[in-house]
Amino acid sequence: MSDTPVVDERLVALLRADLTTAAFTVDGVAARLGPVASAALHREQPLPALLATEPGTSSRSGGPDPCGTLVRVFTLGRAVPVAALAEALPTLTVEGAVALGLVRLENGRAGFGADRAGSARQAVATCDLRPYGDDAHDWWVASDLSELAVGGPLRADHVLGIGGASTTLASWTVRRPAGRALDLGTGCGVQALHLTAHVGSIVATDISERALAYAAFNLALAASDGPGAVPDVQLLAGDLLDPVAGQRFSLVVSNPPFVITPRDQGLPLYEYRDGGRPGDVLVRSLVQQVGSVLEPGGVAQFLGNWEVPAGRSWRDVWTGWLDEQAAHGVALDAWVVQRESQDPAEYAELWARDGGASPGSEEHSQMYAAWLRDFASRDVEAIGFGVVTLQRPATDRPTWRSLDEAHGPVAAPMGPTVDAGLEARTWLAGHTDDEVLDVAWSCAPDVTEERHGVPGVEDPSVILVRQGGGLGRVLRAGTLLAAYLGVADGELTARAALDAIATVLELDAAEVRAELVPQVRDLVADGLLV
Ligand SMILES: C[S@@+](CC[C@H](N)C(=O)[O-])C[C@H]1O[C@@H](n2cnc3c(N)ncnc32)[C@H](O)[C@@H]1O
Repeated sequence: MSDTPVVDERLVALLRADLTTAAFTVDGVAARLGPVASAALHREQPLPALLATEPGTSSRSGGPDPCGTLVRVFTLGRAVPVAALAEALPTLTVEGAVALGLVRLENGRAGFGADRAGSARQAVATCDLRPYGDDAHDWWVASDLSELAVGGPLRADHVLGIGGASTTLASWTVRRPAGRALDLGTGCGVQALHLTAHVGSIVATDISERALAYAAFNLALAASDGPGAVPDVQLLAGDLLDPVAGQRFSLVVSNPPFVITPRDQGLPLYEYRDGGRPGDVLVRSLVQQVGSVLEPGGVAQFLGNWEVPAGRSWRDVWTGWLDEQAAHGVALDAWVVQRESQDPAEYAELWARDGGASPGSEEHSQMYAAWLRDFASRDVEAIGFGVVTLQRPATDRPTWRSLDEAHGPVAAPMGPTVDAGLEARTWLAGHTDDEVLDVAWSCAPDVTEERHGVPGVEDPSVILVRQGGGLGRVLRAGTLLAAYLGVADGELTARAALDAIATVLELDAAEVRAELVPQVRDLVADGLLV
């Protein structure tokens, strides 16, 4: 592929060494740019970073500034003098960077960037390359040049870099050690990179050959020099689950092209966000089909948008989808967390702008109108966004469903919460209310209580229970629940505690238990009681 980076293992190893030496890592770039320019860049405002990386602005004023040069050329998309790039990539060399398909050389303006021999040759990035990482890894991710660097609309087969949706899915992924995993719609390969940390064998698929070429490059760049250095990742081209039909995985992750896009309006159909189906059909088909590639005990996690027509709730929509899945597919537990809901105009504004059309332009207005017409044609009143986790039971036990909303901040990473939530929900589904009452639950350490009252009045009028981590739940507790949480310390069973509370408050013990058991279940499911 001529317009994507090339995997040449020798040159890639030299690039990796140079990027490491230049401290072109997440922390290194943050230190080089400083907090203000770094934060602005996260908001896609390049100007402070451009000013901070102008030649001669490094702390060693005027001296070599490899990290600044690499940010300038690969992240900000600015031409840099060939001599500066040569200093930043001393072992790969500029010729090596050209051979890898990362830069091309141009004649610059006379005098600007001229080296001692008087040459004004400049290097211009042909792709975006940024450091990325988690707590234990420094990686780099190449993708097509961003809107910021291109300065105009993107090509339809644009290969996306790491965005908010990528990091959301990476955060929510359950990171149990797993045998085989699938990354569906791998794009630049970011989810596959994360999977290399805890999965033995990975298959990454995409409908775009260009995306697969970028993923191959990024995985090669992530390899280390030691044993087991090259991750076992197979890259396959094709639509949705077609390339892996008949295979089984213990984990499937996907940040699919879930954006609902009007069809037939002559609009740009960006491959990275639009899977070629009308409405929310792509996400719905993933729900219907993904069970077929899950091994027993396997988990699938993906992001999605869903349309909510007038007169229905998002839970009605999901109940319909899951009933349809249960009728035709393998049995699956389902946990959907709606994170956001937008009205059709909010959604249209967001996605008409994405891709480079400026608000106020004729092109933007046409797209905006097309989205509104498309939603109106299906009577859509709201569009939900969220994270879907489906689990194939390891036995023939009954399945469970949990359709939750969490619109505020949640734990980061969320994977451990999802893992614990799957375990708790599975346990709850297999145990009766009596069995729940026979457990000595304790209030999780991140749970706090807030009492709000009218000044001067002793008893609070509102008691709020707040979860510090997890889904960040905040719930209003009645007197009984507040009293129970106050004594839930892992010593007394829920039954004994509730009976004691009933005695003190002179209430019927059976009624207290009946009222509290559903609340105890709810808190156990979300980890407020453990
Ligand atoms: C939103 S991007 C996700 C990229 C990356 N996995 C991430 O998390 O950032 C969606 C990817 O799905 C791919 N894609 C689009 N339509 C597809 C289809 N019908 N089947 C498989 N992949 C598709 C796109 O090429 C793109 O790389």
